[in-house]
Amino acid sequence: MMGSSEVAMHALSGAVPAHFSPSLFANAPHLAIPYKTRGKYRRKSRALAASCSTSRMRNGCLRDYGFRNINNRLLSLKCKCQRAESTSGDANKTWFTEPTSKADQILGELNGQKVVDFENGSVIMPNDVSVNQSSDKTRGNSVEDVAWRLLQESVVYYCGTPVGTIAAKDPSDSGSSVLNYDQVFIRDFIPSGMAFLLMGEYEIVRNFILHTLQLQSWEKTMDCHSPGQGLMPASFKIRTVPLDGDDSATEEVLDPDFGEAAIGRVAPVDSGLWWIILLRAYGKCSGDLSVQERIDVQTGIKMILKLCLADGFDMFPTLLVTDGSCMIDRRMGIHGHPLEIQALFYSALVCAREMLAPEDGSADLIRALNNRLIALSFHIREYYWVDKRKLNEIYRYKTEEYSYDAVNKFNIYPDQISPWLVEWMPEKGGYFIGNLQPAHMDFRFFSLGNLWSIVSSLATTHQSLAILDLIEAKWSDLVADMPFKICYPALEGQEWQIITGSDPKNTPWSYHNGGSWPTLLWQLTVACIKMNRPEIAARAIEVAEKRIAADRWPEYYDTKRARFIGKQARLYQTWSIAGFLVAKLLLKNPDAARNIWNDEDAEIVNALNIIVDSNPRKRGRKVLKKTYII
Ligand code: GLC
Repeated sequence: MMGSSEVAMHALSGAVPAHFSPSLFANAPHLAIPYKTRGKYRRKSRALAASCSTSRMRNGCLRDYGFRNINNRLLSLKCKCQRAESTSGDANKTWFTEPTSKADQILGELNGQKVVDFENGSVIMPNDVSVNQSSDKTRGNSVEDVAWRLLQESVVYYCGTPVGTIAAKDPSDSGSSVLNYDQVFIRDFIPSGMAFLLMGEYEIVRNFILHTLQLQSWEKTMDCHSPGQGLMPASFKIRTVPLDGDDSATEEVLDPDFGEAAIGRVAPVDSGLWWIILLRAYGKCSGDLSVQERIDVQTGIKMILKLCLADGFDMFPTLLVTDGSCMIDRRMGIHGHPLEIQALFYSALVCAREMLAPEDGSADLIRALNNRLIALSFHIREYYWVDKRKLNEIYRYKTEEYSYDAVNKFNIYPDQISPWLVEWMPEKGGYFIGNLQPAHMDFRFFSLGNLWSIVSSLATTHQSLAILDLIEAKWSDLVADMPFKICYPALEGQEWQIITGSDPKNTPWSYHNGGSWPTLLWQLTVACIKMNRPEIAARAIEVAEKRIAADRWPEYYDTKRARFIGKQARLYQTWSIAGFLVAKLLLKNPDAARNIWNDEDAEIVNALNIIVDSNPRKRGRKVLKKTYII
């Protein structure tokens, strides 16, 4: 059944004049979004207010969502709450604490059973793990029970409704040291959202999707510049502010940060991509497709796509971004075409294609999307891939080739192959490099990009298996005492000085610079299950389970082998908690991982086969141009 807030949203979308219809947004982005200076928004007139449906909440809070007034270019996302009826009381949390909830049942089963129970018998080790670890556990005290409890405690409410999870909730942290870890980060919420979906708790994910969608429309400015429409914020915070002209009342305001307050003013390119991925997972897990079918949600998807597919100067199908525009949100030399963004981009395109309603107005967009998918997968599979054979090929590259048929298209000088890589590349296995630019290959191994290439089927089956082979072969570098290294190896010495700007947080083998992030466990688990090698994930979970709870769920670990809790790591970091929980839940119920990964697309495979079947020497303009037409 539709809540009154949704009714309001629907009614409001319907009330929009015809020339603002979503299909037209694609052609006239400047008309699409009503905006006003960022800050608190006030309704201009009573007549207008009456057209916006409000509902009295359990806690007596009046809320009005998604209020769009085109004429006044006004957008409101606020909730008026009576001070006496605070929204933070326990009453708001009843949706979680029902004694026999689905979540309880799932956790109960998880505790009472072996963690992995695959029919093919290839998984032996984790059963022992589960038995050993849970022998002294009573129901309710297992590591996953603790994780679930902590995850519930991290929930953030807006007008009494759960809308996200706070980045970190360390009771010992206070004041300015909290920085922005008291916000709901879009990327950090993804593992939380997945955990809720797997636990059968759909409401919070649905709310998160719809609220962040409203924030997408917010005007964002950096000094005198407004970044592109369609951008999703990096994070948001709920502030309670006094209501104008009424001392006895407050209102809650959702306050987004698009990077204009973030350290380094980095643009959150990944937010919108993750939002699309979560939206699809929500539909798959809950079976509720009504959210993705809504007009405002369809418009939101299109806005993200338009922003990503917009023409620029770039010659490559990969997305061109600035440094720090993803999970690694500080300078780490990942500007250009970093793998993480490309894998998320590919995944978001595939998910969006699955969800976009066919309609005349979006034919061009869908054509552009299809063309980009093919070009992007060809580019990454062909040019980002390295294994021993390819490395040897690069080692013998000729340079300065001026022709359409150049073998060394990007003019890579063989001397760039770092000494560490010559030693490190295993006999069996391979991976996608971190970044590719003219005359530059960033050979560092970036975990999230590689794992998500498997999950999204950006990598071929052969490449996906080879990435997992490499992870096994390089276990002591990538997992060691805590999964999973964010990138390998760390930048050191002068390279660290120049590339990070001597960043004291990103010193070698710390934080983004070779630190180990437990949250990456969930992506590892989806990738392993997809490739039918769950035992790899189970082994990594076993390593994490030994200490993660005792260490109080750190954000990241330091040193080459991840022996220490990170220098400045937050404790009780929500996505460490959620990442672990999702990994556990998926090992217990591997079928559920299907709702997260993307199967390889037959159309793309066909198109790629045409490219590959043609004479490799002629893999130039003509062939590619021909195959782009769908
Ligand atoms: C750090 C991480 C970033 C994360 C944020 C909040 O800045 O690099 O990916 O979103 O913390 O946890």
